[in-house]
Amino acid sequence: MTTYDIALIGFGGVNRTLAELIATRGETLHTELGFGLRVVAITDLRLGSLVQAEGIDLSIPLNLGGGGETFAEYGGSADTNNESVIRNCTADIICEATFTNPDDGEPAVSHVRWALESGKSVCTTNKGPVALRGAELTSLAEQNGVHFEFEGAVMSGTPVIRLAKKMFAGLELKGFEGILNGTSNYVLGRMEAGLGLEAAIGEAQELGYAEANPSADIEGYDVQLKVLILANELLDAGMELQDVQRQGISAVTPENIRKAAREGRRWKLVGAARRNLDGSVTAGVSPVALPLDHGLAGISGATNAVSFDTDLLGAVTVSGPGAGRVETAYALLSDIIAMHAVRTGAAANA
Ligand code: HSE
Repeated sequence: MTTYDIALIGFGGVNRTLAELIATRGETLHTELGFGLRVVAITDLRLGSLVQAEGIDLSIPLNLGGGGETFAEYGGSADTNNESVIRNCTADIICEATFTNPDDGEPAVSHVRWALESGKSVCTTNKGPVALRGAELTSLAEQNGVHFEFEGAVMSGTPVIRLAKKMFAGLELKGFEGILNGTSNYVLGRMEAGLGLEAAIGEAQELGYAEANPSADIEGYDVQLKVLILANELLDAGMELQDVQRQGISAVTPENIRKAAREGRRWKLVGAARRNLDGSVTAGVSPVALPLDHGLAGISGATNAVSFDTDLLGAVTVSGPGAGRVETAYALLSDIIAMHAVRTGAAANA
């Protein structure tokens, strides 16, 4: 039976949850998926780095946390030399789950580059490298004969990117529109129920939906990155961030919301892209008062949905969670399953 050695870069909620899944469900995963996972390196800004080619006892990182301890006390280091760890560790696969930097994607872009250059496959939930350097990193992976997978960059573990790439063969994808940010959708719903913008944002923060800086959610930056990823990956748009028009929901007033309700409409932050007749692609993010019978109008709370416009099937809509520790950790697992399927020649999910 195959065992993949993995390195966890960033040990926040997502990779920590992946480690928990491996620790608690490793046997089941082995039986169900036909491969095992062994963690051989972990790096984290707060905890430092721990590298053990024979496999890390996961009870060590999973019990480390708030007390200010670092990996130095467990045979590792308090330092995080990500380049050295990524290039020199024995991992087959690097799971990159550090924070999203929407300006240049760093340091995640470098993490991915170092891994691919040193012949390691990468799965990431990080929007930055995919949105801002997706084509370059995909090509680097191909040159090095390894995989670069990033299902969790859009709608966490809900299958969207791989589904559209693999299952729409023979269809022409004309465009897509979606609710791609749970926080702003939650906030609009709470404003419809009578809450003010700030109070609704506060609730979304308490529930753990919002980004560290909630303006990324409210002002549409998060959706802008996701639209860029989907447009480039699925419509081959070759776009850059500034090509995706962006407007968030901060200017939507309670009066706008009441007026829409009187007219049988509901405000949603919609991210969309469409191929034009001349082959170019137009993409953007903006608040739209959708009629209640629109397919996206009923998507409530922190749920996400994306509707693909295809020539032979018409609209194909996928909805599901767009965030969450477990949901996003599952995205990494689904990426590894897809890599395994390619390696073993299995068609499913490849
Ligand atoms: N803050 C994001 C959301 C989470 O609310 O959807 C993942 O991008």
